[in-house]
Amino acid sequence: MTDRVEHPTQPVAPAAMGTPLRRVDGLEKVTGRARYTVEHSGGPEVPGDPLHLWLVTSTVARGRVRRIDADDALAHDGVVAVLDHTSAPRLAETENGELAILQDDRIRFRGQIVALVLAETSESAREGARLVRVDQVEEPHRAEFRDADATDRPAEVNGGMETDTDDGDVEAGLAEAAIRIERTYRTAHEHNNPLEPHATVAWWDEADGRARLTMFDSTQGVHATAATLAPMLGLEPDQVRVRAPYVGGGFGSKGEAHAPVMAVCLAARTTGGRAVRLAVTRQQMFALTGYRTATTSHLRLGARADGTLLAIEHRALSQTSRVREFAEQTAVPSRMMYAAPHRRTTHRLARLDVAVPSWMRAPGEMPGMHAQEVALDELAVACGVDPVDLRVRNEPAVDPENGKPWGDRRLVECLERGAEAFGWAERPAEPGTVVDGEWWVGTGVASATYPASLAAGNAARVTALDGGRYAVAIGAVDIGTGARTVLTQIAADALGCAPDVIDLAIADSTLPVATVAGGSTGISSWGTAIVAAAQLFRADHGEHPDPGVATTASAAADPARAEYAHHSFGAVFAETRVHRYTGEVRVTRLHGTYAVGRVLNPATAHSQLVGGLVMGLSAALLEEGHRDPRFGHTVTQDLATYHVATHADVLDVDAAWLADPDLVASPMGSRGIGEIGIVGTSAAIANAVFHATGVRVRSIPITPDLLVR
Ligand code: MOS
Repeated sequence: MTDRVEHPTQPVAPAAMGTPLRRVDGLEKVTGRARYTVEHSGGPEVPGDPLHLWLVTSTVARGRVRRIDADDALAHDGVVAVLDHTSAPRLAETENGELAILQDDRIRFRGQIVALVLAETSESAREGARLVRVDQVEEPHRAEFRDADATDRPAEVNGGMETDTDDGDVEAGLAEAAIRIERTYRTAHEHNNPLEPHATVAWWDEADGRARLTMFDSTQGVHATAATLAPMLGLEPDQVRVRAPYVGGGFGSKGEAHAPVMAVCLAARTTGGRAVRLAVTRQQMFALTGYRTATTSHLRLGARADGTLLAIEHRALSQTSRVREFAEQTAVPSRMMYAAPHRRTTHRLARLDVAVPSWMRAPGEMPGMHAQEVALDELAVACGVDPVDLRVRNEPAVDPENGKPWGDRRLVECLERGAEAFGWAERPAEPGTVVDGEWWVGTGVASATYPASLAAGNAARVTALDGGRYAVAIGAVDIGTGARTVLTQIAADALGCAPDVIDLAIADSTLPVATVAGGSTGISSWGTAIVAAAQLFRADHGEHPDPGVATTASAAADPARAEYAHHSFGAVFAETRVHRYTGEVRVTRLHGTYAVGRVLNPATAHSQLVGGLVMGLSAALLEEGHRDPRFGHTVTQDLATYHVATHADVLDVDAAWLADPDLVASPMGSRGIGEIGIVGTSAAIANAVFHATGVRVRSIPITPDLLVR
């Protein structure tokens, strides 16, 4: 890596930013030339024909492997090797229990990797895996999420945030309240299903007398993957090279390295340098690549008769695995959303013999805001206040959590503009009063929020090329969001040139370090590093640099930023039709208005926001993972039984935004937009279902049986 310096950034004047520049990789993608991970096997970058890997997984939820009998598998045509916990390479570090596979005989959840089959073809690897006989000792297990078992207090929750907070005196606030809402809300186990399943191609060789591991991996972070794997494999991070030129979606499931990538690294260690290729099956993804745990939220709200909140208590329960802890930060948004003087939040976990939960688009905010925003609707009904007005009445002047002024909140504007765009004013106050043929019709609203964070530790390099062109390099990953296009726009404006003279290189851990495409931090954080490098480059080399000169820089922290609370906000409006006899729910209109700072590319931003709204619709009505408590097995492990919204479910969905730049949040004036679209959406739909029918469903998905009852 080249030397890098920290450089303070100045706001960037928009020229390319703000325009709907066509995706710079669009032609590659629509012509099929864009090569995704497994398509690199056999290509010029991968030496030789790779061996195909198939994962053999446990069929009990807890126990031990007594013996792996590989005789039949090895006798099968094309099968080259079978590895198990007795023969797999040893890891140098095993603290990450999810990744420390095949290091002992323990089975800690159903679907855990217990053996690896290597073969000349994918078909023989699969058949070989079927022929492996796993002799397992079964032990009693617990795999059912029950509220009563969620008693463990984690040291912190996802994102490194406090587990519990207690401000003011919630009991006093509730005692003083004229109106109290005390309800329990539940969200289902949800599984990420990016179009491209997780995949890795990896091989080992030597360079300068040191071992070297090279891979293509379908990941949201090439540097993060290298940094996670290297110490476990006894390597320095620079001995691991990870590339992810094209990734077919992730939603968080490719944000942290999961067990399958380690399986490839271990298997490839044994092949004498031959590459190993793995495409995880859709079914295996339900156990091996993370999922959003089901959540239970106990909400207590106390308010004056006019709906002004006095107290908010949010006690959140979820499950975690015994292999590795993950604590969904469900109650965190209840700390900052509204202005109640008395607030308390807690998180508790049930530790079970289940697969490892992890990130799924807006972990914490998605289930937590669902609960809080349905509770607020119940409060609005109880007070006889319009739900939009209720939220406006509870608007905090400063961030209730830390007392800081808002960088750029504008939730009220989102609510008002969204209400106007949606036609909220015509809404009858009484639920269950609009009938159209066989359908009840209703509308609902909910607020959305997501933190606008900048991830530290990004760097970018700008190099002058011949003919007035510039090479811009950063190890960021475009998981399908349009990051490649938007970073090109940012680089062009930061250098003061046209986007078509920028040659952007991303998605390779040999490029300047970049943080994971996660937490809606990507464009803000990587873009800020590109701005720092571009502005320092201009300061050092002027407007007419000699070809070959280069600058690598990181952005110096902006002290002004720390003085404000940075979050994005939005308002989601839904219209639902509920069939009077079957209970079928159709979301006939879904609209979000967002305050997200400057929108850098209206085309890709619209896709992100609408995609989030659709994923929220999917959660509201369809998505539900079922784990059979008897066997610890997720039975809904394909898209026939785990339902996600399809085109026929998506009718009129639209997103709008307040366009003004937020120049404290980032020098581009933008904030992250990847996740906020899913936040609050299921609540708006649940509230619309109540308005249509007068039936309050306090869990998602809202399936027809819950309404017919
Ligand atoms: Mo997202 S769940 O932060 O990848």
